[in-house]
Amino acid sequence: MIKYIGSKRRLVPVIASIGRAAGTERALDLFTGTTRVAQALKADGARVTAVDSASYSHVLARTYVATDAATVDRDELAEVLAELAALPPRRGYVTEVFCENARYFHPDNGQRIDAVRDAIEDRYAGSALHPILLTSLMEAADRVDSTTGLQMAFLKQWAPRALKPLELRAPSLIDGPGVSVCGDALETVRSVDIGDFDFAYLDPPYNQHRYFSNYHVWETLVRWDAPDHYGIACKRADCREPASHSPFNRRSSMAEALAEVVAAVRASLVVVSYNDEAWLGLEALVDMCMNRGHVAVLAFDSKRYVGAQIGIHSPRGVKVGSVSHLRNTEIMVLSGPRDLVEAGVEAGAAAGSAPARVATTETAQGAGGARDGLEVVRG
Ligand SMILES: C[S@@+](CC[C@H](N)C(=O)[O-])C[C@H]1O[C@@H](n2cnc3c(N)ncnc32)[C@H](O)[C@@H]1O
Repeated sequence: MIKYIGSKRRLVPVIASIGRAAGTERALDLFTGTTRVAQALKADGARVTAVDSASYSHVLARTYVATDAATVDRDELAEVLAELAALPPRRGYVTEVFCENARYFHPDNGQRIDAVRDAIEDRYAGSALHPILLTSLMEAADRVDSTTGLQMAFLKQWAPRALKPLELRAPSLIDGPGVSVCGDALETVRSVDIGDFDFAYLDPPYNQHRYFSNYHVWETLVRWDAPDHYGIACKRADCREPASHSPFNRRSSMAEALAEVVAAVRASLVVVSYNDEAWLGLEALVDMCMNRGHVAVLAFDSKRYVGAQIGIHSPRGVKVGSVSHLRNTEIMVLSGPRDLVEAGVEAGAAAGSAPARVATTETAQGAGGARDGLEVVRG
């Protein structure tokens, strides 16, 4: 799995448990990134649709979500990987730009990446193996990179792993069908073709940190379009273009974009991950989810009390406390029919690696109105 900021590695067991508790047969992972959440849902037997605007994420999702492992000849894959690994190194775009101008990879590995990437395009473009081979190359390159996990900068001295040889491994494919969509989240959920889901997991960006430029090396490796570049980080020239900007990375459009996605997604149980560095307040996110039915907030934090953040209310609806920040807190907002939300909270809280904090709020139809119905049920 590639290093990825915002990746939900620690939350995967929680999200998978929530999906199981909801009896999920059809799942949507709307900002799928590394696809690790989609993979867990698929491994549990759900038919998963994974969506992301990044080309590299689409390749990962075509491999881990859309490819049915049962259809892949493992011996053939091993042979092809061995053949690619044995190719003579050659100096190309990766070597020149990402190893000599910048220092993301050692040039010895850069030349091998160039050779393998060209061969994947020349020999396997259009074949079912294409995304699988690209995934193998991306993951191999990630294991020998010289960054701290972001492609905005590289280490002054080679990271020890950068001096190790590039090693192509077969991705661990999962049985069963699935769907990968490369596109904007809002446009995708508005499209009729995407269908209906039992469970949707939403993990959008919440601030100015753009995935397109943070992971421009993967974008270029996948597109293989040898773009013009700028700056010490050698970012793709199109990082500057408005088309590569996400509405989720603009303070002015983020909240509205998320509200529209939450309103439009056709799923019974919706879980939205919340980030404590977000421009958006948790209370605003809870408000967005209220129209979907019952709402609960599930948080894993030994230091702070999440009920306080969204407002602790007395039975009469009087706000009795709040806190200013929630550092180191993993938060999820669950919304949908009450039975599904309650089952999800129960299962998610039990699956977390830290004690869970839970707050729930009734819908506007509940006793006392929307805000007044908020109560802390456990924590
Ligand atoms: C917080 S990350 C998701 C991490 C993912 N859950 C994981 O565990 O790997 C947010 C993702 O949203 C994607 N993204 C940003 N803007 C988007 C948009 N408008 N539509 C779809 N995906 C978008 C980014 O490419 C990034 O992969």
